[in-house]
Amino acid sequence: MPSILVTGALGQIGSELVPALRQRYGAEQVIATDLKVLPPSGAAALAPYGHLDCTEAHQLHEAVSRYDVGTIYHLAALLSASAEAAPQLAWSVNMSGLYNVLEVAREYGCRVFFPSSIGAFGPETPRDATPQVTIQRPTTIYGITKVAGELLCDYYAHRFGIDTRGLRLPGLISYVAAPGGGTTDYAVEMLYHAVRYASYTCFLSADTRLDMMYMPDAIAAMMDLMEAEEARLRYRNAYNVTAMSVTPAEIAEAIRRHIPAFTVDYEIDPVRQAIADSWPRSLDDGAARADWGWAPRYDLDAMTQDMLARLKDKLAAARGR
Ligand SMILES: NC(=O)c1ccc[n+]([C@@H]2O[C@H](COP(=O)([O-])OP(=O)(O)OC[C@H]3O[C@@H](n4cnc5c(N)ncnc54)[C@H](O)[C@@H]3O)[C@@H](O)[C@H]2O)c1
Repeated sequence: MPSILVTGALGQIGSELVPALRQRYGAEQVIATDLKVLPPSGAAALAPYGHLDCTEAHQLHEAVSRYDVGTIYHLAALLSASAEAAPQLAWSVNMSGLYNVLEVAREYGCRVFFPSSIGAFGPETPRDATPQVTIQRPTTIYGITKVAGELLCDYYAHRFGIDTRGLRLPGLISYVAAPGGGTTDYAVEMLYHAVRYASYTCFLSADTRLDMMYMPDAIAAMMDLMEAEEARLRYRNAYNVTAMSVTPAEIAEAIRRHIPAFTVDYEIDPVRQAIADSWPRSLDDGAARADWGWAPRYDLDAMTQDMLARLKDKLAAARGR
């Protein structure tokens, strides 16, 4: 069986996607790679693991031919807030990286998963029940690379017959690895701070409504999409998916049902607030539901209950060390 290559495997998504892929397809079949160079003990624990810079086309070629790769989950990217702090680097990593992945896929006949984002929309997009096909004029460099990336995936699918598949992911909430510099990081931070300090200072306003998803649903979405019957997929750029449309105040309220003393104050970061204000408030994910059976398992309350329990265990284990 051809193997699976994951780029950006040490990030928030990769840290959970790699174990899930290994469980389903076998540990040896899934090659984890990232820009980060791990010490030998770390690399051995994650084996098969290799250093791979996706902006270096020859490194991708070498990995794909060496490991007989049939599918690439391309996660390496700079996220919204990090990208806005370094737009030139974001263009290089997000665009050259994807182009190199698609080219190697064309040459070796690989399938490609590309994670787009709610950041691929902009202020002119309808913000409620945002349709699958609508205006996409983002005002951030992150969003620009995501729209261009979606179009490039579409192009490679139609022009070269590459099996590209993608999701427009909302903000992801998880406890295994820290988020990597996105605008929705506040949700993860709020849950951590609730358990640790029972208080949090939020960088978005209380009523900023955005789509979110708990990581187990995101992992299931990626794997289910990649296993879906090809003929049923109407879209090769990226499918809207969401699990909840929530504000910081609503997440705080859900936390208070478990930690009544939890308090939140607000010190707004104008850069991240402006990014959030340019994004949809709630996506219409009807196309994903119809085409490949997308259905999230976690709503706000189920996510909050599970996250708080996992974080308490994680902090207790850290204290016991
Ligand atoms: N986490 C979210 O909330 C979210 C939401 C929507 C879309 N996405 C998308 O999902 C993908 C993965 O997101 P994440 O949250 O895991 O990001 P992350 O920032 O946590 O991880 C990205 C990883 O990419 C690596 N990387 C950076 N430059 C690289 C390069 N040149 N070559 C190889 N690796 C490199 C980093 O070392 C890091 O481990 C990204 O494309 C992101 O835009 C994430």
